[in-house]
Amino acid sequence: MNSKKENILVVDDNNEMLDLIQRQLKTFNYRTFKASSVNEAIEVLKTAHIDLLITDLDMPEINGLELLKYTDEHYPAIPKLVISGIPSVPNVVSAIKSGALDYLTKPFTSDELYKSIRSSLVKNYVISNDFQNSKNDILYNNIVGKSVHTKNIIKIIERIKDTKATVLIEGESGTGKELIARAIHFTSNIASQPFIVVNCGGIPETLAESELFGHTKGSFTGATETKTGLFQAASGGTIFLDEIGNAPLLLQTKLLRVIQEKEILRIGATKPEKIDVRIISATNSNLENMVAKDLFREDLYYRLNVANIKTTPLRERKEDLPVLINTFIDKYANEYGKPEIKISEKVIEVLLRYNWPGNIRELENIIQRMIIMSDDLINLNQVPEKLKYDIPASSKILKSLKEYEKEQILKVLASVNHNKTKAAQILQIDRKTLNQKIL
Ligand SMILES: Nc1ncnc2c1ncn2[C@@H]1O[C@H](COP(=O)(O)OP(=O)(O)OP(=O)(O)O)[C@@H](O)[C@H]1O
Ligand SMILES: [Mg+2]
Repeated sequence: MNSKKENILVVDDNNEMLDLIQRQLKTFNYRTFKASSVNEAIEVLKTAHIDLLITDLDMPEINGLELLKYTDEHYPAIPKLVISGIPSVPNVVSAIKSGALDYLTKPFTSDELYKSIRSSLVKNYVISNDFQNSKNDILYNNIVGKSVHTKNIIKIIERIKDTKATVLIEGESGTGKELIARAIHFTSNIASQPFIVVNCGGIPETLAESELFGHTKGSFTGATETKTGLFQAASGGTIFLDEIGNAPLLLQTKLLRVIQEKEILRIGATKPEKIDVRIISATNSNLENMVAKDLFREDLYYRLNVANIKTTPLRERKEDLPVLINTFIDKYANEYGKPEIKISEKVIEVLLRYNWPGNIRELENIIQRMIIMSDDLINLNQVPEKLKYDIPASSKILKSLKEYEKEQILKVLASVNHNKTKAAQILQIDRKTLNQKIL
């Protein structure tokens, strides 16, 4: 049984037929709107948010064909289902043949009606070609995207992957820093060697030295065994120092020594050990500012920063969104056993408009949740409210009163699901004025 309550507009000049269809739609749990003429239907289309148009063709005054044309022109995203006798009009026949239109011949059973509605609705959720094509966009060791930013990052990775130069990756949370670090390692000529991740802010200061460099048996109370540190474990491979900005100053000093001398000293040992490890670090703090405030050692900063990669927040590279959305849908659709799941164009529109403060991680989480909450299609009901009412990143403070007014009207419209009548009521203007102001 459908639980999503799509809005369906039914148009038929025959009131009995109209009532019959409406009753059936209610049992299928759809919200219905009815109109007994094309003009009435157009009024409904203008005021309500309609997900599917069901129309008869043979109607006095204005024919159903005109309504189909009008809807195509003004609301191209609305799928259409024609319920009529055998079609005789040539262009309707060709429209049906081309698959642009669904057609149900009278008389029909309730089951046939339900199936036709589902099939028409799902058509609307099929991702557009443009969107689908984004699947061909760059794919480099799990990094996907088509923006100049992403392409540049892949170029840098290619250039540095086989060198031993230290790499510092800087950028906001959730922008793919760890993914980049992994791509550097796993595409390099030391890919078969270890890749060890160290969360520099996560180890208590007192344990950090032993964790990273190891200790000898009996070197301190509790050191009952000789221990190998993470640097030795990464030998021949890569050590990823995540959140390097959170490394305590004492640890910073030790790290500097490791980089300069290319050797480590276990706690309690007298002889240092040579190590051969590539160091990649990442941070979402501004290390340069931290250096200026004496919170990060300047010499270490330069040592870590031989090669530098800066990640760009998602809101500044929206071209990557379609392919990311596609990738995550594929990933979670398979994971949750819903390989056929579709996403509504309207949902994509909202996802493209949102400001993504949590970047790619937030996008991924939201898609995962929407897939869990959906059956065969992801529609606006599964989209978290905060995404629907987000203010675009480009909203600038310095703007004309007119721009400001338009923006406010659009926000109100979004909040009432584009119901212009409701929006006009809230704004205390008439609908005509509202229409003019959003032109
Ligand atoms: N270009 C991309 N293509 C595909 N997935 C991506 C991309 N960038 C990031 N992701 C995914 O987004 C999530 C967050 O990425 P990652 O953990 O690398 O970010 P981060 O910058 O290290 O974040 P934090 O600073 O919070 O640790 C991961 O699941 C990652 O796989
Ligand atoms: Mg990270």
